[in-house]
Amino acid sequence: MLVSAKDMLVKAKAGKYAVGQFNINNLEWTKAALITAQECNSPIILGVSEGAGKYMTGFKTVAAMVKAMIEELKITVPVALHLDHGTYDGCYKCIEAGFSSIMFDGSHYPIDENVAKTKELVEVCAEKGMSLEAEVGSIGGEEDGVIGKGECADPAECKQIADLGVTMLAAGIGNIHGKYPENWEGLSFETLDAIQKLTGDMPLVLHGGTGIPEDMIKKAISLGVAKINVNTECQLSFAAATRKYIEEGKDLSGKGFDPRKLLNPGFEAIKATIKEKMELFGSVGKA
Ligand code: 13P
Repeated sequence: MLVSAKDMLVKAKAGKYAVGQFNINNLEWTKAALITAQECNSPIILGVSEGAGKYMTGFKTVAAMVKAMIEELKITVPVALHLDHGTYDGCYKCIEAGFSSIMFDGSHYPIDENVAKTKELVEVCAEKGMSLEAEVGSIGGEEDGVIGKGECADPAECKQIADLGVTMLAAGIGNIHGKYPENWEGLSFETLDAIQKLTGDMPLVLHGGTGIPEDMIKKAISLGVAKINVNTECQLSFAAATRKYIEEGKDLSGKGFDPRKLLNPGFEAIKATIKEKMELFGSVGKA
Protein backbone atom coordinates (compact mmCIF):
# COMPACT_ATOMS: atom_id res chain seq x y z
CA MET A 1 0.00 0.00 0.00
CA LEU A 2 1.63 3.28 -1.12
CA VAL A 3 1.09 5.92 1.56
CA SER A 4 2.55 9.16 2.84
CA ALA A 5 5.12 8.63 5.60
CA LYS A 6 3.14 10.72 8.08
CA ASP A 7 1.11 8.10 9.98
CA MET A 8 3.90 5.55 10.17
CA LEU A 9 6.28 8.16 11.62
CA VAL A 10 3.80 9.61 14.11
CA LYS A 11 3.20 6.05 15.34
CA ALA A 12 6.93 5.32 15.46
CA LYS A 13 7.72 8.45 17.46
CA ALA A 14 4.94 7.68 19.95
CA GLY A 15 5.95 4.01 20.15
CA LYS A 16 9.69 4.74 20.52
CA TYR A 17 10.92 2.86 17.47
CA ALA A 18 12.11 3.99 14.04
CA VAL A 19 11.04 3.24 10.48
CA GLY A 20 13.89 2.48 8.10
CA GLN A 21 14.40 4.35 4.87
CA PHE A 22 16.21 2.05 2.48
CA ASN A 23 17.51 3.60 -0.72
CA ILE A 24 16.74 1.78 -3.95
CA ASN A 25 18.80 1.59 -7.13
CA ASN A 26 17.07 -0.87 -9.42
CA LEU A 27 14.49 -3.65 -9.60
CA GLU A 28 16.42 -6.07 -7.36
CA TRP A 29 16.78 -3.45 -4.63
CA THR A 30 13.12 -2.49 -4.75
CA LYS A 31 11.90 -6.08 -4.75
CA ALA A 32 14.21 -6.99 -1.85
CA ALA A 33 13.00 -4.03 0.22
CA LEU A 34 9.30 -4.65 -0.40
CA ILE A 35 9.43 -8.41 0.22
CA THR A 36 11.43 -7.96 3.42
CA ALA A 37 9.02 -5.32 4.75
CA GLN A 38 6.11 -7.67 4.08
CA GLU A 39 7.90 -10.64 5.72
CA CYS A 40 8.73 -8.50 8.76
CA ASN A 41 5.27 -6.93 8.84
CA SER A 42 7.05 -3.58 9.02
CA PRO A 43 6.33 -0.20 7.48
CA ILE A 44 9.06 0.91 5.07
CA ILE A 45 10.25 4.03 3.27
CA LEU A 46 11.89 3.55 -0.12
CA GLY A 47 14.44 6.34 -0.62
CA VAL A 48 15.35 7.54 -4.11
CA SER A 49 18.21 9.99 -4.55
CA GLU A 50 18.16 12.24 -7.58
CA GLY A 51 21.12 10.30 -8.98
CA ALA A 52 19.36 6.95 -8.52
CA GLY A 53 16.21 8.38 -10.07
CA LYS A 54 18.19 9.43 -13.12
CA TYR A 55 19.90 6.02 -13.27
CA MET A 56 16.50 4.33 -13.32
CA THR A 57 15.60 6.59 -16.31
CA GLY A 58 13.52 9.07 -14.30
CA PHE A 59 11.13 9.44 -11.37
CA LYS A 60 8.11 8.36 -13.43
CA THR A 61 9.72 5.00 -14.12
CA VAL A 62 10.47 4.59 -10.42
CA ALA A 63 6.94 5.47 -9.32
CA ALA A 64 5.40 3.17 -11.92
CA MET A 65 7.70 0.30 -10.94
CA VAL A 66 7.05 0.68 -7.21
CA LYS A 67 3.28 0.94 -7.62
CA ALA A 68 3.14 -2.08 -9.92
CA MET A 69 5.40 -4.12 -7.65
CA ILE A 70 3.27 -3.36 -4.61
CA GLU A 71 0.27 -4.69 -6.53
CA GLU A 72 1.94 -7.73 -8.12
CA LEU A 73 3.68 -8.78 -4.90
CA LYS A 74 0.51 -8.14 -2.86
CA ILE A 75 2.34 -5.89 -0.42
CA THR A 76 -0.07 -4.83 2.32
CA VAL A 77 2.35 -3.10 4.74
CA PRO A 78 2.58 0.71 4.49
CA VAL A 79 5.17 1.80 1.90
CA ALA A 80 6.24 5.40 1.33
CA LEU A 81 8.08 6.31 -1.87
CA HIS A 82 10.34 9.17 -0.87
CA LEU A 83 12.72 11.53 -2.65
CA ASP A 84 16.03 11.63 -0.75
CA HIS A 85 17.92 14.96 -0.51
CA GLY A 86 15.73 16.60 -3.11
CA THR A 87 16.54 19.85 -4.83
CA TYR A 88 13.71 22.36 -5.23
CA ASP A 89 13.16 21.26 -8.88
CA GLY A 90 13.54 17.59 -8.02
CA CYS A 91 10.76 17.90 -5.44
CA TYR A 92 8.33 19.17 -8.06
CA LYS A 93 9.35 16.40 -10.47
CA CYS A 94 8.59 13.75 -7.82
CA ILE A 95 5.27 15.37 -6.90
CA GLU A 96 4.32 15.15 -10.56
CA ALA A 97 5.64 11.59 -10.92
CA GLY A 98 3.40 10.29 -8.11
CA PHE A 99 5.80 9.88 -5.18
CA SER A 100 4.08 9.81 -1.79
CA SER A 101 6.80 11.68 0.09
CA ILE A 102 9.65 14.09 -0.57
CA MET A 103 12.65 15.51 1.20
CA PHE A 104 13.57 19.07 0.40
CA ASP A 105 17.21 19.52 1.38
CA GLY A 106 17.53 23.25 1.79
CA SER A 107 20.36 22.92 4.32
CA HIS A 108 22.88 24.58 1.99
CA TYR A 109 20.70 27.71 1.61
CA PRO A 110 20.77 30.57 4.10
CA ILE A 111 18.12 29.76 6.75
CA ASP A 112 15.64 32.36 5.44
CA GLU A 113 15.69 30.82 1.98
CA ASN A 114 15.44 27.30 3.43
CA VAL A 115 12.39 28.50 5.41
CA ALA A 116 10.73 30.17 2.40
CA LYS A 117 11.15 27.19 0.06
CA THR A 118 10.20 24.64 2.73
CA LYS A 119 7.09 26.68 3.58
CA GLU A 120 5.97 26.66 -0.04
CA LEU A 121 6.47 22.89 -0.26
CA VAL A 122 4.57 22.32 3.01
CA GLU A 123 1.50 23.81 1.33
CA VAL A 124 1.91 21.83 -1.89
CA CYS A 125 2.42 18.55 -0.01
CA ALA A 126 -0.58 19.21 2.26
CA GLU A 127 -2.77 19.64 -0.80
CA LYS A 128 -1.54 16.36 -2.28
CA GLY A 129 -1.60 14.37 0.98
CA MET A 130 2.17 13.85 0.77
CA SER A 131 4.74 13.90 3.56
CA LEU A 132 7.64 16.34 3.56
CA GLU A 133 11.05 16.04 5.19
CA ALA A 134 13.14 19.15 5.74
CA GLU A 135 16.79 19.45 6.72
CA VAL A 136 18.73 21.75 8.99
CA GLY A 137 22.50 21.45 9.44
CA SER A 138 24.13 19.38 6.73
CA ILE A 139 24.88 15.66 6.93
CA GLY A 140 28.59 15.02 6.48
CA GLY A 141 30.18 13.05 3.67
CA GLU A 142 29.04 12.48 0.11
CA GLU A 143 25.95 10.80 -1.24
CA ASP A 144 25.36 10.63 -4.98
CA GLY A 145 27.26 13.85 -5.54
CA VAL A 146 25.56 15.70 -2.62
CA ILE A 147 28.41 16.76 -0.36
CA GLY A 148 27.82 17.98 3.18
CA LYS A 149 30.22 19.53 5.67
CA GLY A 150 28.51 17.78 8.55
CA GLU A 151 27.96 20.59 11.00
CA CYS A 152 25.51 20.10 13.88
CA ALA A 153 22.14 21.76 13.43
CA ASP A 154 21.13 24.82 15.43
CA PRO A 155 18.16 23.74 17.61
CA ALA A 156 16.48 27.15 17.25
CA GLU A 157 16.60 26.84 13.45
CA CYS A 158 15.18 23.31 13.75
CA LYS A 159 12.23 24.72 15.68
CA GLN A 160 11.74 27.41 13.05
CA ILE A 161 11.52 24.78 10.27
CA ALA A 162 9.46 22.32 12.37
CA ASP A 163 6.91 25.06 13.08
CA LEU A 164 6.25 25.38 9.33
CA GLY A 165 4.36 22.09 9.51
CA VAL A 166 6.82 19.67 7.91
CA THR A 167 6.18 15.97 8.55
CA MET A 168 9.67 15.04 9.68
CA LEU A 169 12.93 16.83 10.28
CA ALA A 170 16.48 15.76 9.45
CA ALA A 171 18.99 17.51 11.67
CA GLY A 172 22.75 17.13 11.44
CA ILE A 173 24.09 15.73 14.72
CA GLY A 174 27.54 14.62 13.59
CA ASN A 175 26.21 11.88 11.30
CA ILE A 176 27.93 11.14 8.00
CA HIS A 177 26.85 9.43 4.78
CA GLY A 178 28.90 6.36 3.88
CA LYS A 179 31.41 4.60 6.12
CA TYR A 180 32.41 6.39 9.34
CA PRO A 181 36.09 7.33 9.62
CA GLU A 182 38.21 5.79 12.41
CA ASN A 183 38.44 9.14 14.21
CA TRP A 184 34.67 9.86 14.11
CA GLU A 185 33.56 11.53 17.31
CA GLY A 186 30.13 9.89 17.39
CA LEU A 187 26.66 11.42 17.40
CA SER A 188 26.06 14.59 19.36
CA PHE A 189 23.31 13.53 21.76
CA GLU A 190 23.33 16.96 23.43
CA THR A 191 22.33 18.49 20.09
CA LEU A 192 19.67 15.81 19.52
CA ASP A 193 18.27 16.27 23.01
CA ALA A 194 18.11 20.06 22.58
CA ILE A 195 16.36 19.68 19.20
CA GLN A 196 13.80 17.21 20.55
CA LYS A 197 13.05 19.49 23.52
CA LEU A 198 12.26 22.36 21.16
CA THR A 199 10.44 20.38 18.47
CA GLY A 200 8.28 18.15 20.70
CA ASP A 201 6.36 15.49 18.77
CA MET A 202 8.17 16.09 15.47
CA PRO A 203 9.59 12.77 14.15
CA LEU A 204 13.34 13.33 13.76
CA VAL A 205 15.37 11.72 10.98
CA LEU A 206 18.83 10.20 11.31
CA HIS A 207 20.70 10.08 8.01
CA GLY A 208 23.90 8.10 7.51
CA GLY A 209 22.52 4.96 9.21
CA THR A 210 25.35 2.78 7.85
CA GLY A 211 27.87 1.83 10.50
CA ILE A 212 26.35 3.64 13.48
CA PRO A 213 26.89 1.34 16.50
CA GLU A 214 23.76 -0.31 17.93
CA ASP A 215 23.89 1.48 21.26
CA MET A 216 23.97 4.88 19.52
CA ILE A 217 21.03 3.90 17.30
CA LYS A 218 19.02 2.92 20.37
CA LYS A 219 19.91 6.08 22.23
CA ALA A 220 18.99 8.22 19.20
CA ILE A 221 15.58 6.51 19.03
CA SER A 222 15.06 7.15 22.74
CA LEU A 223 15.72 10.86 22.04
CA GLY A 224 13.09 11.19 19.30
CA VAL A 225 14.56 9.72 16.12
CA ALA A 226 11.71 7.98 14.26
CA LYS A 227 13.23 7.51 10.79
CA ILE A 228 16.68 6.15 10.01
CA ASN A 229 18.20 6.18 6.52
CA VAL A 230 20.33 3.31 5.28
CA ASN A 231 21.96 3.24 1.87
CA THR A 232 25.65 2.28 1.81
CA GLU A 233 25.20 -0.83 3.97
CA CYS A 234 22.90 -2.47 1.40
CA GLN A 235 25.36 -1.56 -1.35
CA LEU A 236 28.23 -3.14 0.59
CA SER A 237 26.34 -6.36 1.32
CA PHE A 238 25.15 -6.62 -2.30
CA ALA A 239 28.71 -6.10 -3.58
CA ALA A 240 30.26 -8.62 -1.15
CA ALA A 241 27.76 -11.36 -2.02
CA THR A 242 28.17 -10.75 -5.76
CA ARG A 243 31.96 -10.77 -5.44
CA LYS A 244 31.83 -14.10 -3.58
CA TYR A 245 29.62 -15.69 -6.28
CA ILE A 246 32.02 -14.65 -9.02
CA GLU A 247 35.19 -15.45 -7.09
CA GLU A 248 33.83 -18.94 -6.47
CA GLY A 249 33.43 -19.24 -10.25
CA LYS A 250 29.69 -19.87 -10.00
CA ASP A 251 28.99 -17.72 -13.02
CA LEU A 252 31.13 -20.14 -15.04
CA SER A 253 29.31 -23.32 -14.11
CA GLY A 254 26.12 -24.37 -15.88
CA LYS A 255 23.78 -21.42 -16.41
CA GLY A 256 25.34 -19.47 -13.53
CA PHE A 257 25.79 -16.47 -15.82
CA ASP A 258 22.00 -16.02 -16.07
CA PRO A 259 21.44 -12.54 -14.53
CA ARG A 260 18.65 -13.92 -12.37
CA LYS A 261 21.17 -16.34 -10.83
CA LEU A 262 24.11 -13.93 -10.82
CA LEU A 263 22.18 -11.21 -8.99
CA ASN A 264 20.42 -13.54 -6.56
CA PRO A 265 23.10 -13.71 -3.81
CA GLY A 266 23.23 -9.89 -3.77
CA PHE A 267 19.44 -9.75 -3.63
CA GLU A 268 19.41 -12.14 -0.65
CA ALA A 269 22.17 -10.11 1.02
CA ILE A 270 20.14 -6.88 0.75
CA LYS A 271 17.15 -8.68 2.25
CA ALA A 272 19.26 -9.86 5.21
CA THR A 273 20.66 -6.36 5.81
CA ILE A 274 17.21 -4.77 5.73
CA LYS A 275 15.78 -7.40 8.10
CA GLU A 276 18.66 -6.86 10.54
CA LYS A 277 18.05 -3.08 10.50
CA MET A 278 14.29 -3.44 10.94
CA GLU A 279 14.93 -5.62 14.00
CA LEU A 280 17.40 -3.09 15.40
CA PHE A 281 15.10 -0.12 14.73
CA GLY A 282 12.15 -1.95 16.36
CA SER A 283 9.76 -1.66 13.38
CA VAL A 284 9.13 -5.42 12.99
CA GLY A 285 5.44 -6.23 13.53
CA LYS A 286 4.49 -2.53 13.52
CA ALA A 287 2.75 -2.42 10.11
P1 13P B 1 24.28 5.80 4.47
O1 13P B 1 24.65 5.60 3.03
O2 13P B 1 25.43 6.21 5.29
O3 13P B 1 23.60 4.60 5.02
O4 13P B 1 23.27 7.01 4.53
C1 13P B 1 22.03 6.93 3.89
C2 13P B 1 21.27 8.20 3.93
O5 13P B 1 21.37 8.96 4.86
C3 13P B 1 20.38 8.51 2.80
O6 13P B 1 19.94 9.82 2.84
